[in-house]
Amino acid sequence: MSPEQEEEEVTVMAAKKREVVERSLVFAVNGERFELSRVDPNTTLLEFLRTKTRFKGAKLACGEGGCGACVILLSTYDPVHNRVEEFAVSSCLTLLCSINFCSVMTTEGLGNSNDGFHPIHQRFSGFHASQCGFCTPGMCMSLFSALVKADKSNRPEPPDGFSKLTASEAEKAIAGNLCRCTGYRPILDACKSFAADVDLEDLGLNSFWKKGEKHALVGRLPYHSRNGVCTFPEYLKSEVKSSLDALNNSDYTSLAEGCWYCPYSVDGLYKLLNSETFSGCRVKMVVGNTGSGVYKELDLYDKYIDLRGIPELSVIRRKNKGIEIGAAITISRAIEVLKEDCERILFSSQRLVFAKIADHMNKVASQFVRNTASLGGNLIMTQRSQLPSDIATILLAAGSTVCIQMAAERLVLTLEEFFERPPCDYRTLLLSIYIPCWNYTSNASSEIKESVDSKATKESYLLFETFRAAPRPLGNAVAYLNSAFLAQISLDKISGNLVIDNLRLAFGAYGSEYAIRARKVENFLVGKPVTASILLEAIRLLREAIIPKEGTPHPSYRSSLAVSFLFDFLHPLAKDLAEPKKNIHVDVFNAAARAEYPIDSLNEAVHVSPDKASTYANNGRFDNCDTLLLSKQVMKFSKDYNPVGEPIKKVGAEIQASGEAVYVDDIPSPKDCLYGAFIYSTKPLAHIKGISFRSSLASNKLITFISFKDIPKGGQNIGSMTMFGTEPLFASSLSEYSGQPLGLVIAETQGLANMCAKQADVSYSTENLEAPILSIEEAVRKSSFFEVPPFIYPKQVGDFSQGMAEADHKILSAEIKLGSQYYFYMETQTTLAVPDEDNCIMVYSSNQCPEAAQQVIGKCLGIPFHNVRIITRRVGGGFGGKAARALPVATACALAAYKLRRPVRMYLDRKTDMIMAGGRHPMKINYSVGFKCDGKVTALHIDLLINAGISEDVSPIMPHNIIEALKKYNWGALSFDVKVCRTNVSTKSAMRGPGEVQGSFIAEAVIEHVASALSVDANSIRRKNLHTFESLKLFFEGCEGEASEYTLPSIFDKLALSASYHHHVEMIQEFNSRNKWRKRGISCVPIIHKVMLRPTPGKVSVLNDGSIIVEVGGIELGQGLWTKVKQMAAFALGQLCADGGQYLLERVRVIQADTLSLIQGGWTAGSTTSESSCEAVCLSCNVLVERLKPLKKRLEEQMGFVSWEPLIFQANLEAVNLSASTYFVPDYTSRSYLNFGAAVSEVEIDLLTGATTILQSDLTYDCGQSLNPAVDLGQIEGAFVQGVGFYMYEEYLTNADGLVVSDGTWTYKVPTVDTIPKQFNVEILNSGHHQKRVLSSKASGEPPLLLAASVHCATREAIRAARLELFSCTESEGSPSIFQLEVPATMPIVKELCGLDNVDRYLETFLSDS
Ligand SMILES: Cc1cc2nc3c(=O)[nH]c(=O)nc-3n(C[C@H](O)[C@H](O)[C@H](O)COP(=O)(O)OP(=O)(O)OC[C@H]3O[C@@H](n4cnc5c(N)ncnc54)[C@H](O)[C@@H]3O)c2cc1C
Ligand code: FES
Ligand code: FES
Repeated sequence: MSPEQEEEEVTVMAAKKREVVERSLVFAVNGERFELSRVDPNTTLLEFLRTKTRFKGAKLACGEGGCGACVILLSTYDPVHNRVEEFAVSSCLTLLCSINFCSVMTTEGLGNSNDGFHPIHQRFSGFHASQCGFCTPGMCMSLFSALVKADKSNRPEPPDGFSKLTASEAEKAIAGNLCRCTGYRPILDACKSFAADVDLEDLGLNSFWKKGEKHALVGRLPYHSRNGVCTFPEYLKSEVKSSLDALNNSDYTSLAEGCWYCPYSVDGLYKLLNSETFSGCRVKMVVGNTGSGVYKELDLYDKYIDLRGIPELSVIRRKNKGIEIGAAITISRAIEVLKEDCERILFSSQRLVFAKIADHMNKVASQFVRNTASLGGNLIMTQRSQLPSDIATILLAAGSTVCIQMAAERLVLTLEEFFERPPCDYRTLLLSIYIPCWNYTSNASSEIKESVDSKATKESYLLFETFRAAPRPLGNAVAYLNSAFLAQISLDKISGNLVIDNLRLAFGAYGSEYAIRARKVENFLVGKPVTASILLEAIRLLREAIIPKEGTPHPSYRSSLAVSFLFDFLHPLAKDLAEPKKNIHVDVFNAAARAEYPIDSLNEAVHVSPDKASTYANNGRFDNCDTLLLSKQVMKFSKDYNPVGEPIKKVGAEIQASGEAVYVDDIPSPKDCLYGAFIYSTKPLAHIKGISFRSSLASNKLITFISFKDIPKGGQNIGSMTMFGTEPLFASSLSEYSGQPLGLVIAETQGLANMCAKQADVSYSTENLEAPILSIEEAVRKSSFFEVPPFIYPKQVGDFSQGMAEADHKILSAEIKLGSQYYFYMETQTTLAVPDEDNCIMVYSSNQCPEAAQQVIGKCLGIPFHNVRIITRRVGGGFGGKAARALPVATACALAAYKLRRPVRMYLDRKTDMIMAGGRHPMKINYSVGFKCDGKVTALHIDLLINAGISEDVSPIMPHNIIEALKKYNWGALSFDVKVCRTNVSTKSAMRGPGEVQGSFIAEAVIEHVASALSVDANSIRRKNLHTFESLKLFFEGCEGEASEYTLPSIFDKLALSASYHHHVEMIQEFNSRNKWRKRGISCVPIIHKVMLRPTPGKVSVLNDGSIIVEVGGIELGQGLWTKVKQMAAFALGQLCADGGQYLLERVRVIQADTLSLIQGGWTAGSTTSESSCEAVCLSCNVLVERLKPLKKRLEEQMGFVSWEPLIFQANLEAVNLSASTYFVPDYTSRSYLNFGAAVSEVEIDLLTGATTILQSDLTYDCGQSLNPAVDLGQIEGAFVQGVGFYMYEEYLTNADGLVVSDGTWTYKVPTVDTIPKQFNVEILNSGHHQKRVLSSKASGEPPLLLAASVHCATREAIRAARLELFSCTESEGSPSIFQLEVPATMPIVKELCGLDNVDRYLETFLSDS
C-alpha cells in the first residue's frame, strides 16, 4: 500500500434506501426450504431445529456457547461475488431471525442411515469415538466445518482420500467441544484421519485396520470427497439474488411480523428507535447474540434490531496509519483480516502487533462462538457489564480507539475514555474500532510518535506481547487475568543495557471493572534501563496497581499473574539477569527466549510471522497449543468366546453421529404437550412465605404452577428413594437447602417455562429457625449424622495401637479436605410424561434406574406400580447422576402430567441441573499413621467426615466404598471412624467411583506424606506397602480371588520399576535442574477397586425371520452395555449356528428398557451391569439353546445341515417357545471381586502461572478377558480423563448459603482436548482365565477413574521440586517438601504452593547474590 492509499472493504451492500420491506423469514435446513411469516423473535435456531423440524441432531447441553453440542454449519451466499461462506456456529445462541437467507446444515444433512452415512460419521464410529453419543453430532459438525474451510483454501492438493486439513488443525477443530465420555483421544484420531500430514499408523485402535498391520492406508478409510456436500442450495441463491433489488430500495427490512428489524444505515437505525413502533417495547440490538451465553436473558424481548446490515458497522478500512474494523465484524473475521494484513504490510513492528492480536483473539471463546461474536459486542459488554474481556485488554495495549454514535453525536474515544464513561444505554451505537500501526518511524499514536521522534537518533525497537492465564490453553475458558504489553526500547550503547523508551501495560479480566493500564508502572519504567533491580521495583509497583475488586476469587493469585507476565515480558531484556556468572538460576529456556531477543539483532524479535506467534508467545515454555496428541494402545484380543472379545464398533455409533439416535428430548412432543421448569429455593433453611411472579413479558406466558399441593389424594410427597430412605419431591412450607425444588412452572415451550421460572419471587422467613448446618464442622457440633447400617459398615483390620507401638515414626492428625464434583453429563436431566387411559402414565426418562422411577412415581401419585410404565432407550451420559438424582425430575414431570391430564416434558437447563444435582460427596479426613524407618507402614487411623447433604440417598454406602479403596495398601493395622453428616445442602449422590476415588486418594496422600517425612521417593514407599497375596486376603476377606489373579504387583513393577520409568526420572531431574520456571514431576499410582455384581434380568426372543430381540435390566449410558450384550447373545446362540456367533451378530437388536416388559431391572451402576446383563442374556440364550437343540439334531439327521433361519422357522411351526427370560443372581461367594491397575503420569508445571500440562500418562488396567477391548478402552480412557477433571480442574463451588455458584460452562471446567495427556498410552491387560467371572471378564467403567490420582501425585512431585528450590533458604516456612495439595489442583492452587511471590523472591535473591 502506498502512503496515501486506503483500502476499504464493506461486506454489506450499501445503497440508497427509502422503504421498509416486510418479509418472511426464508432459509434452508439440510437443503429443505423454510419460509416463516411469524416467529417469536426470542426463538433460537436450536430451539427451532429441535421443536419444529425433524432434525434433532443438534443437541442442547449448555445453552451458553460453552460445549459445542449444538454446533451446526451455517452458510451465507454473497451474490455479488457468487461466493458461499461456511462456518460453524452454536445454534443455541443464534437467533432464528438472524439466519434469513442462510443455509443450515446439521449432522443429518451430511448423511444418514437411509442414504448412507458421511465418512465423518463412519470414521467417528470406526475409531470408537462415540460413547453416549450426545456430543457426537456437534463434534462432527465442528470437524466438518474445519474440513470445508481447509478444502476450499488454495493449499496444495492432498493425496486422494485426504483433506487439506493439517493434523494440528484437525485437533483444534473440536477444541471448544466438550465430551464427558471418551477422554477425547479417539475423537482426535477420527479427526486426524482426514489430515494429509498424519501418519495413519499412529492413529489409535479402530475398525478399519488392525493395530500394527501394514494396512493403515487411506483406502481403508471411508472415502473423503472434498466436494462431497452441497452446503447452499441453488434455489436459495436465486432467492438471495432476487431479494437484492428490494433491499436496495429499503431503509430496513422487517421480519417476523415486525419483531425483527434490519436497518441499512445508522440513520435508519435511529429512525427506527425513535419511531412509534418501538415506544414501550423491550428492544434488543444484536449482532451475534453470543452475549446471551455470558449474561443470561432474564426476560423476553418484544423486538430485536439486527445491526449486521449497517455498512458502517461492517467496514474494514485499511489505512496507512492503522486499520479500522467495523464493530459488527466477527472475531473470526477480524483474525483473518489481521493475518492478511501481516502478509502485506511493510513494517515488521506493525506485523508483530497484528499477529499477536490475531493470535490472542484465537483464544477467545471457541471457533463456533468467534464465528458470530462481534468485536463491538465484546467491547459493549465490557463497557456496560464488565465482561472480563480479552479483546479490550489487547486493544488497549495496542492503543486502539473506538468510534461511537449517540443519537446525533459521533465521538472518537480512546478505549480508556470509552470504558470510563457511564454504561452505554441501548441507543448508543459502537461503530468501529481503530487499531493504529506501530511503526517507530511513522507512528499513528502521537504519544509514541513524540517519544520516538525525540529518540530518532537512537536505534529503537518495538515489542508487543499478549498473555492470558486460563484453565484451558486453547481458549473456551475465561482468563484469570490477561495482559498485553507494548514497549519501545533502545540500546544504550555505553552501558549495553536496553532502555525502555515507551510502554503500554494493559491488564484485564482479573476482577477489575474493565481493562486498565498500569500507568504508575509505565511511568516508572519509561526512560529506565531494564535491569533486575528496576524490574523488582516495577513489579512491586504493579502489585499495588492490580488489585481485584472484593469478592473476586483468588485475588492474590491474579495479582501474582500480573507480576509473572510483566516479568516474562521484560526479563529477557535485562542484561544482568542473563549473565551466567552472576545468575546461576537463569535456565536454558531463558537463554532460548533470549535468543529471540538478541541484543545485537533485536529486529529479529519483530520479524515474527503469524504462524510463529504462538510459540513465541510462550517464550519457549511448553506450548500446549501446538502439541499433537500421541497415543498407544496395547491389548490382546481373545478369540475364546467369539464374537465376545472382539473390539467391534459400539452399537448405534453411526446413528449417534448422524443425529438419528433418539434421546428422551428427541422424542417428538405429543399433541398438547406442556413444559415444566423447576423453581428452587435459594435459602438453606427457611419458611416459604409465598411464591409470586414478577410482572414481565415472560410471566404472561405462565400457564400454571405445580407444587406439593397438587400431589393427589393417596399419594405421597416423595421425589426419590433408595434402600436407605426417601426424599420429598417439593418443599412444603420449609426449605431445607438451597436448590430444593419448590414447584414447577408450566408453559407452552421449554424456553418459556425456563424464562417463567426466572420471574419467580420467593419470600422466605427464618423466624424461629436455627441456623442451617452448612459445613461438616457444624454437623459434628450438632451431631447431625445419618445412620450407617451395621451390615455395610466396613471392617477394621488388625490392632491399631499395636501397629503404632511398632512404628519408628508417627504422623499425627494430618488433615485433608476433598471437594465435590458435578457429573456434567452432556444431556441434562430430562423426562417426558404422557398420561394414559385408566389412571396409567407413560414416562420416558433418561435414567439409570427405571425401576426406581416406577416405584417413586407410583408412590407419589398413589397408583399401583403397574400403572406406571417407564421407558428408557439411551442416556446421554449418567456417571451416577441419572440414578437417584433423576428420580425427582421424572416424578415432578409425571405429577404435572397426571394433574393436568396433558403430556408434560422437562429438560433441565444446565444451571438448574447444576444447582440441583448434588454430585460427589465432599469430605474431611484426619489421619494418623505409624511407619518404620524403611517406609513400611504399621498402622493407619482415619477419621472421616462425609458431607451427605440433606437426605440419605446412597450416602450410607460411602464409608464402605472409601475404606475398601483405601485398603489398596497394606497398612499393617487399619482403624477408622466414619461419620455421614446430614447438612442443609443438596443431597450428594453416587458419582463414578463413589467413595473409591476419595479412598484411593487418601491412601496416596498418606503414602506421599510418609515419603516426604522420610525424604524418599514416594514410589518406593508405595511398592513397600503393596499387598502380598496374604495381606490382600486379610484386607479383602472373601473377594481376593486366586493368588494368580492378583496382578497388581507385576503391573506396578512393570510401570514403576521399568528402565523407561527410570529414564524419565533422570530426564526430569535434569530438566528440573536446568529450568527455573518450569518443573516436572512423575508418579506411579496403583489401584485396587472392589466391585459387586447384582441380580439382573435378561430376556431373549427370536422372531420368525431369525432376528433376535434382547432386553436387559441394564441401561445403555454410553458405556457400551448394548454392544457387549449383543456380542454375548450372538456368542451364546452361536452354539446353534454352524457359522458360529459371528453370523448372528448383525441379527441381534437390544431394545429399550421398559419396566412393564422386563421387571426387576435394578440400578445400572457400580461398573458391573454390563457383565451381569451379559450373564443374564447368556442364561436366557442357554434356555433357548436347550429348547432348540433337539430340533436342530433332528433336522440335521434329516438334512445333514441346518442353518439359523430354517431352524427358527421350523421351531415356530413346531411351537417351540422362542422367548426366554432369566434373572441372574450372582453366587454370594463370588459376587464381589477386585480390579487392579496402575498409572504413571508425568506433568510439567509453569511456576509463573500455576498451569499444569500432563505430558504423558501410561495406564495399565487388568480387564480379565475383555468382553470388548474397544469398549473397555473407551471406558478406561474416559474414566481417567473424568478423574483428571476431579483432581485438576473441576471446582463445584457454593456460596455462603450453600447454593451452587459453579453453575455453567463459564465457571465449571471439565477437561477438554487441550488438557488431556499429550501422550496417552493404555495397556489392557488380559489376565487370562477367571473362573468365577462372566467369560473371564472384569469391570472397566469406574476403577480407571482412580488412576487419575497419578496426575495429581505427579503435580505434587513437580511442586515439591519447585518448593525445594524456592524455599530452601527460609527455615521459618517449615519443610518445603511437606504440604497438602488440594483437589482440584487448579492453577491458583499450584501457583500458591510454588510461591505467589516467587518472581519477587527470585529477583531479591539474585540481587542479594550479585
Ligand atoms: C462461551 C463464550 C466464551 C467467551 N469467552 C470469551 C473470552 O475468553 N474472552 C472474551 O473477551 N470474550 C469472551 N466471550 C465474549 C464474546 O466475545 C462476546 O459474547 C461477543 O464478542 C459478543 O458479540 P456479539 O456480536 O455476539 O454480541 P451480541 O450478543 O449480539 O450483543 C452483546 C451486547 O452488545 C450490544 N451490541 C452489540 N454490538 C453493538 C454495537 N455495535 N453497538 C452498540 N451495542 C452493541 C448488544 O445490544 C448487546 O447488548 C465469550 C462468549 C461466549 C459465549
Ligand atoms: S448447547 Fe450450544 S454450545 Fe452448548
Ligand atoms: S460421547 Fe461425548 S459426551 Fe458422551
